[in-house]
Amino acid sequence: MPKGIWITFEGVEGTGKSTQIDRLASRMRDLGRPLTLTREPGGTELGRGLRELLLRPTDIPMDPLAELLLYAADRAQHLRQVVIPALERGDLVLCDRYLDATLAYQGFGRKLGVDLVLDLHRREPLDMRPGRTVLLDLDPALALGRARSRNVGAGLDETEGRFEQERLEFHRRVRQGYLELASEEPGRFRVVDAEGTEEVVELRIIDVLKDLLGPERSNARPSGAG
Ligand code: TYD
Repeated sequence: MPKGIWITFEGVEGTGKSTQIDRLASRMRDLGRPLTLTREPGGTELGRGLRELLLRPTDIPMDPLAELLLYAADRAQHLRQVVIPALERGDLVLCDRYLDATLAYQGFGRKLGVDLVLDLHRREPLDMRPGRTVLLDLDPALALGRARSRNVGAGLDETEGRFEQERLEFHRRVRQGYLELASEEPGRFRVVDAEGTEEVVELRIIDVLKDLLGPERSNARPSGAG
């Protein structure tokens, strides 16, 4: 059994997921905790190539099955090359998206169904599951507004990224999918309300992780508050 702790973060675009992972990571680093911070797609060199193919906006629709298989390819490599070695070293592994993203986006969003996605994840190394999954939940109408203004702020097109071009209805299916997955696996999932300031949401996340990270280690104060 690997020694490390593996936590994944999920949610629709614009829930503040990446910001919150960075905040938690810097808090853990300050405490001297061995940490691996990673993401899907794009946690390996192969994955960075796949990420570019997957997320580049294009006029040619990607076949949903092709899309599913590319995410799975990214994941298999990522598990072997990054996640498994980090867990064996005993690291705390914080991962921005994992299998639940495929279930929510490809299974529910693209309507491929969860059974197909789960079937593909029955063999090693794709059969691994994290110890805890934090689902940042926000109404997609609000979340997409955030994601789009973030893009504009970064000098990008409003709908930069293939998924940001998708209709609200797609993102509503993704959100519903995530909530269904969470209700089916309450032991692994923690649903966190992503509405509020960065500091407020950070405290909510720390609160749902303190049993895993240890109360003295997570120390529920906003980072930078002394
Ligand atoms: P991410 O980098 O987390 O984007 P953001 O920071 O904008 O939330 O994820 C990239 C995109 O890939 C995101 O739109 C969700 C999508 N995705 C899937 O559709 N399936 C998957 O299995 C994964 C991991 C991501």
